[in-house]
Amino acid sequence: MTISPAPDQWHGQSPTPISPADAYNGYIAANVIFALDRLGLLDRIERGDVLYREDLGRQPAADTDRAEAVLRAAVGCGYLKAEEGVFLPTETGREAARTRGYFTWAVGGYSEVFAHAGSLSAGTARYDEDVHRDEAMVALGSGQADRSMFAGLLHQVLADVDFEAVADLGSGTSARVQRVVSQRPGTRGFGIDISEPATRLARQDIVRAGLEGRVEAIRGDVLDILAGGRDLGAVADVDTVMSFLLLHDLLADPKTRPDVLPRMREAFPRSRTFIFADTMLRPDTGAEDKLPIFSAGFELAHAMMGVPLHTKDTYEDLFRSAGLRIARTEAMATPHSWLYVLAAD
Ligand SMILES: C[S@@+](CC[C@H](N)C(=O)[O-])C[C@H]1O[C@@H](n2cnc3c(N)ncnc32)[C@H](O)[C@@H]1O
Repeated sequence: MTISPAPDQWHGQSPTPISPADAYNGYIAANVIFALDRLGLLDRIERGDVLYREDLGRQPAADTDRAEAVLRAAVGCGYLKAEEGVFLPTETGREAARTRGYFTWAVGGYSEVFAHAGSLSAGTARYDEDVHRDEAMVALGSGQADRSMFAGLLHQVLADVDFEAVADLGSGTSARVQRVVSQRPGTRGFGIDISEPATRLARQDIVRAGLEGRVEAIRGDVLDILAGGRDLGAVADVDTVMSFLLLHDLLADPKTRPDVLPRMREAFPRSRTFIFADTMLRPDTGAEDKLPIFSAGFELAHAMMGVPLHTKDTYEDLFRSAGLRIARTEAMATPHSWLYVLAAD
């Protein structure tokens, strides 16, 4: 069994207590990074390309005055430098662009949930009735994080896995399954996701990538599949099952939690390899003078949605009870997130 150690940065980069000025400015900065993405500028910023004022008018309905205000705010945050009519990305701006997935996830996906943390906790609003997350943005943010932060690790891991057909459960925009299949000639892939907008985006991307016939995006609830409520046809014959950042949702209900993985093995009886990655509860280290990126937001969002999170030990117990052997454990770039390669021997 291979186990990689937890990286130091998981234990925090932002000093706490967070001053009111840092809290306020961090909130604005997160919104600015997300706005730069919506303006389509983050690829250029990530590359360190100069931004010209003319770049702001490229989107059909662009309001250049407002877009320029976003750039000025990015200068204020230190992400760009204004010089003689152009904007130059700083190193921190490039890093913010590289890690854009966190901001799409938090601002695009969960801003309504965070803004209503008070009313959800006071009982004056209910999650999924009055307050919603934006599932397409959650899927898009996860896809961005996958491309810039997780793809290399999965590529390395898959180098040791012999597969012909793979299913990705909770596949979001199916970006991962498309990449994995396009890198291995002769293979096929299926992305299964509950979200209608994410599945629509996935289908468009599959056509654009010329992967029709090799990759299929299916809209479906994995819990329904595990409960036997849906005939999977050829999908049930895959030899490898992946699932990234979904397992905590599948394990939310304590009554069905112990059955989730055994049912998954029954639903995909030919699968010899299961590759699972998820963000887990932070261990209590007693050192609370620094906060890593992501963890506190992930924990708060799930508490507001009523989805419990689990420690690494709980995941490993569940894997073993389902008869899955832990062949490999890798620390991911996102704090407190682990990737497991599990063998169904
Ligand atoms: C955090 S995102 C991760 C997306 C993708 N796996 C990735 O890593 O980029 C979780 C995804 O799971 C999907 N999802 C949540 N519950 C689901 C369920 N019961 N069945 C299928 N998909 C589900 C969501 O729509 C979302 O796209």
